[in-house]
Amino acid sequence: MTRPPRLFRWVVIPAVAAVALAASILTASARAPLAVQGAQAAVAPAAVAPATGAPETATQKANREAAGKAPRGPWAYSGASGYTNYLGGGVGRSPEQPIKFPHPVHVNTLKLNCVYCHFSAFKSPDPGMPAVGTCLGCHQLVAGDRPEIKKIAEYAAKKAPIPWVRVHKVPEYVHFPHMRHVNAGVTCQSCHGQINNMPQVFQYASLNMGWCVSCHVNGYSPADGIRAAGYVPDSTALAAPRKKATYDCSNCHY
Ligand code: HEC
Ligand code: HEC
Ligand code: HEC
Ligand code: HEC
Ligand code: HEC
Repeated sequence: MTRPPRLFRWVVIPAVAAVALAASILTASARAPLAVQGAQAAVAPAAVAPATGAPETATQKANREAAGKAPRGPWAYSGASGYTNYLGGGVGRSPEQPIKFPHPVHVNTLKLNCVYCHFSAFKSPDPGMPAVGTCLGCHQLVAGDRPEIKKIAEYAAKKAPIPWVRVHKVPEYVHFPHMRHVNAGVTCQSCHGQINNMPQVFQYASLNMGWCVSCHVNGYSPADGIRAAGYVPDSTALAAPRKKATYDCSNCHY
């Protein structure tokens, strides 16, 4: 119910900045046929760019820069075999989505925080998926002429949620609380890899019992978590002790 003010700032400020940035990307683009540009709109930008030599969009640029940068995750032994193997795939599993949602432009270019969209990662076992309205907050104005964006409006018109295909899943008999991990400072990328560099999301870690238990028993290293996110840890992170967690069966199994 109540939201800590620190988190609130964290979420809202980047979001406002991102809307402004989104607007400036559009203003800079000769192809943007938008009314938001006020006075500029009257000067209607020269129609559509030619099919060849069309300027690269912000999405294409971010995807190109991200391509190949997100490594596969660690291998982990387990007597069990990794639930998503049964769903088809396991590590590297990357189902096609109903809308080609690109994390790179939203995270790397627009600097949106993960919890702007996965809004309950701090307070619930389930990290949450963005409502259609969250997308429309920008896409009513941004890139509305593109095929993938038109699909968003179609789901909104039908009042239907976007049927995203689940990538990460543990079996029903396993209890996985996002908030416990996120509040302990475990970075999203420790478990999901560099989602910000994945033009199409793939499963990074095995999610099997050996993977969970080896982190719980050896302890989470804050420095490794920062490296996994693609940053260089500072001296405080390097000095921070490993955070161990329980190896009690009933904590993870109902
Ligand atoms: C840190 C979390 C965690 C702990 C602690 C844990 N497990 Fe698991 N366990 C899992 C996960 C995740 C899976 C699903 C594995 C998979 O899909 O490969 C699993 C799967 C299993 C399975 C099913 C294996 C199969 O082949 O389907 C059994 C049995 C099991 N665990 C027993 C135990 C026992 C006994 C303990 C205590 C000694 C224990 N677990 C402790 C996370 C945990
Ligand atoms: C603008 C909203 C938005 C932002 C910001 C965002 N995501 Fe997502 N995320 C989505 C949408 C929509 C999907 C479903 C489509 C897909 O898989 O690409 C998704 C899917 C995912 C998935 C796969 C879900 C599954 O089914 O297993 C993970 C993991 C994830 N995001 C993590 C992150 C992380 C980590 C960040 C920050 C680095 C982040 N997201 C930032 C919207 C967002
Ligand atoms: C903060 C504003 C903002 C939010 C919120 C946002 N987007 Fe975007 N999105 C953008 C901008 C800016 C681009 C880059 C457009 C370009 O390439 O010029 C973009 C690009 C895209 C593209 C690629 C378009 C193409 O060129 O094919 C898709 C698809 C997309 N967004 C879907 C979504 C979905 C789905 C959501 C909700 C989960 C969402 N966006 C939320 C601003 C936003
Ligand atoms: C300790 C490992 C770990 C961390 C840290 C973690 N996740 Fe996850 N995430 C998982 C596992 C495991 C699943 C599958 C959970 C399940 O099936 O219940 C998952 C599932 C998801 C999903 C899919 C949920 C759905 O309902 O479709 C999203 C989105 C996601 N995580 C985003 C995030 C974001 C954003 C962060 C950081 C704020 C994060 N995760 C941090 C391990 C992690
Ligand atoms: C990268 C390290 C890491 C991985 C991987 C990881 N965990 Fe954890 N987990 C932690 C840490 C650290 C804590 C302790 C949080 C705290 O102290 O509050 C924790 C806490 C938990 C708790 C709460 C324990 C309690 O005492 O109530 C559960 C349940 C849990 N993890 C389940 C899982 C399951 C299931 C998986 C695999 C699907 C998993 N974890 C994978 C680091 C990890």
